[in-house]
Amino acid sequence: MTKQEISIGERVFRIYLDESQIQARIRELAAEIQEQYTHTELAIVSVLNGAFMFTADLLRKLDIPCNLNFIRVSSYSGTETTGKVKTVMGLGDNLSGKHILLIEDIVDTGITLQELIQQLQAEQPASIRVCALLVKPEKHQAPVNVHYAGFVIPDAFVVGYGLDLDGQGRNLPHIYQLKS
Ligand code: IMP
Repeated sequence: MTKQEISIGERVFRIYLDESQIQARIRELAAEIQEQYTHTELAIVSVLNGAFMFTADLLRKLDIPCNLNFIRVSSYSGTETTGKVKTVMGLGDNLSGKHILLIEDIVDTGITLQELIQQLQAEQPASIRVCALLVKPEKHQAPVNVHYAGFVIPDAFVVGYGLDLDGQGRNLPHIYQLKS
């Protein structure tokens, strides 16, 4: 049975999106991506740590040739962004001339995405598109263009399904929202 509430430290979260809603939306996203990249090999770039679960589920639903790279960045401390994006682990493959699909867990201020796109553009790919499971438009500070957005959500901290609070909660199959 789905837990309706969870606690991390002193913070209480309530269920926001359950596993079946998430998986149904991922199926729709995969169908949309697949339709648009029928004749193109995709270079997937997944942003660790948060996007690991979303990437695994999305890729299993994509029936097109693709390869996978992980990039690791960090900008958060607790529930607040530090505004500074650190690339901790870089790319493996040469992405020159490739069609990149950048997979993010959540686009909040958009600072991480902006920084990543700049870094990826330096690789001279043929194209870059962004797929994010969650988008918080109220918080955007940088111009963001998310081509494939799973859910547009309000400005409240969320955990689960890859997303964490100080390292906790990534393993939850559902997404929970901080209770105010
Ligand atoms: P941005 O640079 O502010 O757009 O933040 C992007 C990154 O911050 C995401 O990839 C997440 O790792 C993290 N993040 C932003 N909002 C949340 C949240 O509500 N829960 C957990 N992590 C978040």
